[in-house]
Amino acid sequence: MPKWLDNAVFYEIYPQSFMDSNGDGIGDIRGIVQRLDHVRSLGCNAIWLNPCFDSPFLDAGYDVSDYKRVAERYGSVEELAYLFEEVHRRDMHILLDLVPGHTSMEHEWFLKSCSAERNEYSDRYIWTDSIWESPEGMGCVRGFFERDGSCAVNFFTHQPALNYGFAHPERPWQMKPDAPAPLATREAIKDVMRFWLDKGCDGFRVDMAGSLVKNDPDGSANIAFWQDFRAFLDREYPDAVLISEWGEPDKSLAGGFHMDFLLHFGPSHYNDLFRCEEPFFSRRGKGTAEAFVRTYTENYAGTGGSGLICIPSGNHDMDRMRRFLDPEEMKLAFTFLLTMPGAPFIYYGDELGMRYVEGLTSKEGGYGRTGSRTPMQWDDSPNAGFSTAAPEKLYLPIDPSPDRPTAENQLLSRDTLMREVKRLTALRSEHKALQSRGKVKFVTSGYPLVYLRTEDREDGERIAVMINPSERTYSLPKQLNGSVLYSVGKGVPHLTHDEQKLVMPPESAAVILL
Ligand code: NOJ
Ligand code: CA
Repeated sequence: MPKWLDNAVFYEIYPQSFMDSNGDGIGDIRGIVQRLDHVRSLGCNAIWLNPCFDSPFLDAGYDVSDYKRVAERYGSVEELAYLFEEVHRRDMHILLDLVPGHTSMEHEWFLKSCSAERNEYSDRYIWTDSIWESPEGMGCVRGFFERDGSCAVNFFTHQPALNYGFAHPERPWQMKPDAPAPLATREAIKDVMRFWLDKGCDGFRVDMAGSLVKNDPDGSANIAFWQDFRAFLDREYPDAVLISEWGEPDKSLAGGFHMDFLLHFGPSHYNDLFRCEEPFFSRRGKGTAEAFVRTYTENYAGTGGSGLICIPSGNHDMDRMRRFLDPEEMKLAFTFLLTMPGAPFIYYGDELGMRYVEGLTSKEGGYGRTGSRTPMQWDDSPNAGFSTAAPEKLYLPIDPSPDRPTAENQLLSRDTLMREVKRLTALRSEHKALQSRGKVKFVTSGYPLVYLRTEDREDGERIAVMINPSERTYSLPKQLNGSVLYSVGKGVPHLTHDEQKLVMPPESAAVILL
């Protein structure tokens, strides 16, 4: 694993909403360059950039129509390469978003594959061999083309599924993963990866990584698929980083990914902590994170104890954390996020406590996700400093709340969430035990949440993290006492008079060197 991942803290940039440099109302690559110092100042040393390629933008760019071109609204290939340089100049790294599962219906490959006449692209996508047969268990698009067949889709019906074969083919049109056409699709994606790695990116976040080979219940075919990609990268780009949207770290890491995301959907119980009626990290919480801790611990074991599971503060697909937690509660949530193993990911604006903007009409396939995608709030100038365009020209409206947080007011005021985020990233960078590969062991799974982080060597540091979101005071075994490296909230843990117990004050968190 490349060394920089040991202490990576990522920042997710949604390009359309980050910074508009030319006043057309939409964020762009030059805008990102202008604001890199903000990202760096948070203590983030890595970026995940959401798709910025040619696209009709029916799914905000997850519907790529040309993998090797930058969408005009964002800039050009040269500008993106310049962004890579500027990132590296600041000792940071950057991952692009690779969407290998499907393309837009406007992609040239798809247009050619729709033709009734057989050609090089006829089997690039998953087509049934008759319009009257739809692919079982998958949605499909059909009836628009001269070709007789239905084409499987992955997400929205305008995202035809690229053909990587079936682990267990059951119909004549279902190919084995190592049939010539699925292999050609693989090679085409490797070619895309080469293109961007040659331009200087550091690797990829991979969309839907665990579901490319179809009908693969135990995941073994997808694991083998990614092992082939890893072998290719090891030969040609050994430093290239891959992080998966998979949600099963045992499989993802076996496939050669460096880290896997903890997903907000599926069995992870991630939402129990931050996003539900009574989130664990809130005063309203019911005091148990048991289901989360249990599944996390299982998955952690599945990583062989390496713990390379990335826990995001949020992303462009889920409600902002601020919808459920107030800024004081978010400080405790961030204490958790920034002291767990694996690289943490901060979604742009979460460091300020940006709100989920209610009631927005869907934009580019956002639907309920749209409220989490509004422009970054930089300062109190018009459009919160995001753009000089007229407000009605903006990609999405700015959060209208009069007290909306901005990067500037978070910097200039005391005790702000952003300041805590900076303190926490600084703390993390000073202690190996708190970084990606430090071990974790949960001592409790209720209030206060307590876990130990240790370095992977005998005489390494041992650090206890304790988080008490509740309004109650708790006492803990005195063995958890030590020197306080960090504390936030209503109080600092301290020994009782008789020194028999450690007192954990309400609504507070602490990181203690044992
Ligand atoms: C996951 C992406 O994060 C999401 O935004 C997208 O809509 C789907 N994959 C489909 O690509
Ligand atoms: Ca722009």
